[in-house]
Amino acid sequence: MYHIKNLEQYLTDYKYSVEEPELFWEGIAKNNFTWQKKWDKVLSFDFSKPEFKWFEGAKLNITENCIDRHLKENGNKTAIIFEPNDPKEKEEHISYNELHARVCKFANVLKSQGIKKGDRVCIYLPMIPDLAISTLACARIGAIHSVVFAGFSSNSLATRINDSECKMVITSDGSFRGNKCIDLKSIVDEALNSCNTIETVLVAKRTNSSVSMNTPRDKWLQPLLDAAKDECPIEIMDSEDPLFILYTSGSTGKPKGMVHSTAGYMVNTAYTFKNIFQYEENDVYWCTADIGWITGHSYIVYGPLLNGATTLMFEGVPSYPDWGRFWEVVQKYKVNQFYTAPTAIRAIAKENISHVKKYDLSSLKILGTVGEPINEEAWQWYYSNIGQKKCPVVDTWWQTETGSIMIAPVPSAIEPIPTFATLPLPGIQPILVDADGALIKDHLVEGNLCIQFPWPSIARTIWGDHQRYKDTYFSKFKDRYFTGDGAIRNEKGYYRITGRVDDIILVSGHNLGTAPIEDCINEHPLIAESAIVGYPDDVKGNALYGFLTIKSSINGNEHEELYRQINKLISDKIGPIAKLDKIQFCSGLPKTRSGKIMRRILRKIACKDADNLGDTTTLLNPEVVDEIINHAV
Ligand code: WT7
Repeated sequence: MYHIKNLEQYLTDYKYSVEEPELFWEGIAKNNFTWQKKWDKVLSFDFSKPEFKWFEGAKLNITENCIDRHLKENGNKTAIIFEPNDPKEKEEHISYNELHARVCKFANVLKSQGIKKGDRVCIYLPMIPDLAISTLACARIGAIHSVVFAGFSSNSLATRINDSECKMVITSDGSFRGNKCIDLKSIVDEALNSCNTIETVLVAKRTNSSVSMNTPRDKWLQPLLDAAKDECPIEIMDSEDPLFILYTSGSTGKPKGMVHSTAGYMVNTAYTFKNIFQYEENDVYWCTADIGWITGHSYIVYGPLLNGATTLMFEGVPSYPDWGRFWEVVQKYKVNQFYTAPTAIRAIAKENISHVKKYDLSSLKILGTVGEPINEEAWQWYYSNIGQKKCPVVDTWWQTETGSIMIAPVPSAIEPIPTFATLPLPGIQPILVDADGALIKDHLVEGNLCIQFPWPSIARTIWGDHQRYKDTYFSKFKDRYFTGDGAIRNEKGYYRITGRVDDIILVSGHNLGTAPIEDCINEHPLIAESAIVGYPDDVKGNALYGFLTIKSSINGNEHEELYRQINKLISDKIGPIAKLDKIQFCSGLPKTRSGKIMRRILRKIACKDADNLGDTTTLLNPEVVDEIINHAV
């Protein structure tokens, strides 16, 4: 894959990509992939529908591009390194040849279980090779994968299965995370009590814990794989056929099943992987995300494999068996590109530096970060202690919806500066607009971050709800995609992302909508009303503060119990990541005359900035504000 080597080339490519977007993307598509048939038209789009079509008329299969294409010259090269949770367990090196055989076998198993092109398959697996392999197996036969992060609760899993009417779930007996062993199969069983579209559950063995098998629905995976052929022809897909669904939180309502297409996603993730990580033959690349998030889809599986790279999959956590685990892995495999989240960096930076110093990190060339704004302190720590001031820290801004990295310093061209994602990649046209949608041309003025021209990996719709897709991303501002983020731009045109401007809070880099958490809390029989806001946290970026009103008065001890019950409820319904860090019981919540909770005020109180409440004259019940301030936790 062609890539940017210096600033001049970046500027030339960028200019060309804006003036001639179709020729720009066509050039990349033509030269770096295997097509069963080339496209008739590079791009057609209509922001008002909204509809985006890239490489229309083309035929391809993304797994041919991820795997088969590399076999002739690089069949024996390692495609995936699997590093288990427990450092004492042996790792796996899966060559491209072996990956081909294993994906084909898995694809044949899917077919034998009645999965066909267009069917939805839910994958609920820990970070073991079968997760990447089953994802690719779906793509090979044209089934639409919906990977659900295996930290989600049974309730969240059921919602996602039902929303896209999955026919199959692929799971495991259990999962290892640090010193914990989690019983995944029973979470699936519980979820399936409220699902009626699932015909088959394939169960991989990981922990060897005893599980209950509900026959004939549930089947052990291994015997099926053993019996399957290791060749499976590719399903020929249209460029715009959906490749996968991936759910992301909305600020209200159920999670949004973002639908990604085949050709555009392929071209965009491959191009950005090569340019952001400057991958060279024989490099070892490691992204610490879980494949259950978009970061894992695009930059553990598809982007690296499309480039014939060696990609490392890590099953464990940064703190097990101790806080040196990441660096032990970097040393062990001589990792060259390392991609992680600010929350992980902050958590590690709090621990003793000896955990870092013990290891040889000299193989590292590029350090990436993603998921939330990275604060200056964390950036400097990462740059000095991990990169030893020799590796650029590449702050990559993008979203589940964008499919690929959008704004980030291409390391060969742009000198990174802390807290700025800097400049858009070629092909990406960001703008800032004010509340009325007017273009902001000035520098250092905060605005709403929008993208004014389509790019190939933009999500095409929300599964089953195109209207919501339109309303969420294309209605607030006409003829552009609204990201939901705020940003400022400096004199050099560098973008600094300031955070969400909607009711989504990023906790440890995970997208959490406040409304779904509030809905869940309000189900508790004692709770009348609730409002969740975020406040800054050293490690998690943001933590959750809940202001709750109770139906009848209860005493101090009962508060403790209620707090526990509420977090249990959230944990069960949404997942442990959404648990509240602080709860305050109040007699009322500040409201406008139209009955809207004034979250702005609660946010100030939670951030210990109650001296700056701003205008409170529109409040219906100003008296509750003092009470809330006096009892703030
Ligand atoms: C939201 C998207 C796509 C990667 C994982 C998150 C925030 C993401 C950055 C960054 C500041 C960032 C934004 C965005 N975000 N990367 N480098 N700097 N903020 O995907 O769960 O879809 O969340 O994460 O607020 O809108 P996601």
